[in-house]
Amino acid sequence: MKASSTVCVLGGTGFVGQRLASALVRRGYRVRIPTRNRERHRSLLVLPGVELVNADIHDAATLSRLVAGCGTVINLVGILHERPRNGSGFHKAHVTLVEKTLEACLEHGVERFLQMSALKASAEHGPSHYLRSKGAGERVVKNLAGEGIRFTIFQPSAIFGPADSFTNMFAGLVRLFPVLPLVKPDARLAPVFVGDVANAFCAALEDPSTAGKTYQLCGPDILSLREIVAEIAKALGKRRLIIGLPDTLASVQAWLMDYVVPGRILSVDSFKSLTVASVCTENGLEALGIRATAMRDLLPSYLGTDPGQRTLSGFRQSANR
Ligand SMILES: NC(=O)c1ccc[n+]([C@@H]2O[C@H](COP(=O)([O-])OP(=O)(O)OC[C@H]3O[C@@H](n4cnc5c(N)ncnc54)[C@H](OP(=O)(O)O)[C@@H]3O)[C@@H](O)[C@H]2O)c1
Repeated sequence: MKASSTVCVLGGTGFVGQRLASALVRRGYRVRIPTRNRERHRSLLVLPGVELVNADIHDAATLSRLVAGCGTVINLVGILHERPRNGSGFHKAHVTLVEKTLEACLEHGVERFLQMSALKASAEHGPSHYLRSKGAGERVVKNLAGEGIRFTIFQPSAIFGPADSFTNMFAGLVRLFPVLPLVKPDARLAPVFVGDVANAFCAALEDPSTAGKTYQLCGPDILSLREIVAEIAKALGKRRLIIGLPDTLASVQAWLMDYVVPGRILSVDSFKSLTVASVCTENGLEALGIRATAMRDLLPSYLGTDPGQRTLSGFRQSANR
């Protein structure tokens, strides 16, 4: 274990967080992870040096206790859906929480802060509550961290990997339906592998020259949503008819899913996020010395039709391989 190198990871129980926690442990860090439900995430305790604590991170006093003694704080907390649907939930999770966290960091002399944002985040120009609030969160980091804390911001495109909700959600639909109506079929993304994202955070943590910088994170290929779903169908060995929905119909479908059958498939806000291409102008992975993994190379290994294969992929993921 490295002395005084405890890293507090807010959002460390999530898809990216679990991968990152594993990568940090392998590098010799102690990792403190607050969660709203410790029982649900007990599997993280198999990682040596991980401390999993039930905590309300929106409470300033709790946050202060959590970051005390940490050399680095990483904020991965993010939501895609909110209630009420007026932006207040996004603001609380992506802006107010960042303010409170940085205040706690300044109070305790935390030296390093890594912030997870999103590609095309912009407080002024983001088309959705999600992207505007992520942009506002970045602004808070740049203003509040000031000279007291060395910060680095990450802006990934859609992130894929064995336990993601992105490719697995489409894989679920591909398995069930022979015909797939698709919203925003021409939306462009550069899916980035979760292992590469975790390595980017670790690389930044160990390279002082990354302080004060923002890194866009993209996979090697730019694909339309239609091409991504086609790749998923191919990985599953299914022939599927993909029908692109016109925007008018798609926005009605998003509205219905948001208000009538709220779930995780589509919301009005995520529909709006898809109106901007989630592609990098400069891929930060290269700057960080990481070779981007192609989605089409990995999909078959974890979506493959064999359930045993999927289980093995899950084990490999938790071992960060
Ligand atoms: N996945 C992607 O494709 C993608 C792409 C671009 C950017 N990002 C960003 O990357 C980050 C991680 O994404 P992910 O896919 O790993 O997310 P995830 O699996 O949904 O995990 C989210 C984490 O945040 C915590 N969390 C969620 N809502 C919270 C709330 N209201 N209060 C306190 N904690 C809350 C959860 O902790 P508990 O439930 O344990 O409390 C969980 O650990 C997010 O900031 C996301 O916006 C993700």
